[in-house]
Amino acid sequence: MSQSKSSRTGRRQFLKGATAVAGSAALLGQPALAAGFHHSVDDKLRVGLIGCGGRGTGAALDAAGADSNVALVAIADAFPDRVSVGARQLTRAFQEKFGDAAGEKIDLPEERQFVGLDSYKSVLECDVDVVLLTQPPYFRPESIKAAVAAGKHVFCEKPVAVDVPGVLKVLEACQNADGLNIVSGLCWRYDLGVRATMDKIREGAIGELVTIQENYLTGELWHRGNKPEWSPLENQIRNWLYYTWLSGDIPAEQHIHSLDKALWLMDDVPPTRCYGTGGRQKRTEEKYGNVYDHFASCFEWDNGVKCFSYCRQQNGCFNETEDHVWGTQGSAKILANRVSGPNGVWQYEGPKPSMYQVEHDHLFRAIRSGEKINNGDYMCKSTLMAIMAREVCYTGKSISWTELLADKTVLGPASLDEVDYVPPPVAIPGS
Ligand SMILES: NC(=O)c1ccc[n+]([C@@H]2O[C@H](COP(=O)([O-])OP(=O)(O)OC[C@H]3O[C@@H](n4cnc5c(N)ncnc54)[C@H](O)[C@@H]3O)[C@@H](O)[C@H]2O)c1
Repeated sequence: MSQSKSSRTGRRQFLKGATAVAGSAALLGQPALAAGFHHSVDDKLRVGLIGCGGRGTGAALDAAGADSNVALVAIADAFPDRVSVGARQLTRAFQEKFGDAAGEKIDLPEERQFVGLDSYKSVLECDVDVVLLTQPPYFRPESIKAAVAAGKHVFCEKPVAVDVPGVLKVLEACQNADGLNIVSGLCWRYDLGVRATMDKIREGAIGELVTIQENYLTGELWHRGNKPEWSPLENQIRNWLYYTWLSGDIPAEQHIHSLDKALWLMDDVPPTRCYGTGGRQKRTEEKYGNVYDHFASCFEWDNGVKCFSYCRQQNGCFNETEDHVWGTQGSAKILANRVSGPNGVWQYEGPKPSMYQVEHDHLFRAIRSGEKINNGDYMCKSTLMAIMAREVCYTGKSISWTELLADKTVLGPASLDEVDYVPPPVAIPGS
């Protein structure tokens, strides 16, 4: 894995420094004018994308489809190949989706394609109104903070951070986001069937809530290989899913969708305590970094409600992604949109537009109307629940919410210049 000094230096420069079209950091700390200046549909809303992967492409298409006068005008990624492939894929996808109108909706000259771990700064310096933050979770807190300081509306994917200090940074930024919209990629909150099912439960269709079971049991995900020309740090960022400091591990990266629904069922009141068990049985090779492949955790609330939560990424096993809810008078399956109570079975039969499109429809409608959406509170609490689920399994301890909030551990290298960074070993509970 070791590299020559000169090649390491070269890599460091290309990783760290955004290709500079404009000077750096000029806008950071200066609340700008975005909000309230786009009430007329004649004003084009300019969008910047940070993280040109699968979700970034989807989010850019959804943003462009959410308003008749939106254009993707800047993109950024850590790696030059991801930016150039991303620009090509985005252009093709826009042409497929919007046909002749694509030219109005995407405008990505090379000088607005940025490369580097700090390339979000260059996007913020472009004249964009909205940023889509779809890079790996580790990088989210700094970019959310900078986007808010620069006066940009934000769409940010989940989770919002990988450790507690990161979440607290995001929370503070969201609390300072006066006049800006912050929309979270916790997309089930925007799914019409899930919203209707939640409404039924909250109206009392299953009586008082007693127990929740959250299942996110699924197969293995991608691995992008390891290349000798990549530094250890670059290998980790390319395969970010498998490093706790980058992804937050399965509870944060994937199962957070389930935990967020448990939080929602509890009126966004966080749990008081959690304990659990987990480990790594199948993905044991070095290339799978230091994450686990299964977790089980039990969340408890002061009113006696418990949430039993399970997530697993192993091939060849029973799979189910569902939220099971039991009350004093019935039960519900949230993703199946079904509620069974004293009045019989209720099944949502309404429209089912893409929740990914709906979240962007809400964001862009709010920007036009002057209404303000700020999903900061629940996206931070759900991320904290995910970190809690991970930490109780990694440590084997029972952790209270108060103890969790006091955790000052910052994951990742002291500096992103540490191209030979070695992440901690796989956590062993009880030690
Ligand atoms: N809401 C959902 O249903 C959903 C679905 C998929 C992914 N996601 C989330 O979206 C995010 C991205 O996931 P993905 O599947 O698109 O991953 P991906 O690996 O396909 O894309 C991430 C991109 O970010 C780039 N990147 C890495 N570091 C960067 C940095 N410092 N600055 C800019 N770019 C950087 C990577 O090179 C990569 O191209 C994750 O947080 C993931 O959890 C959400």
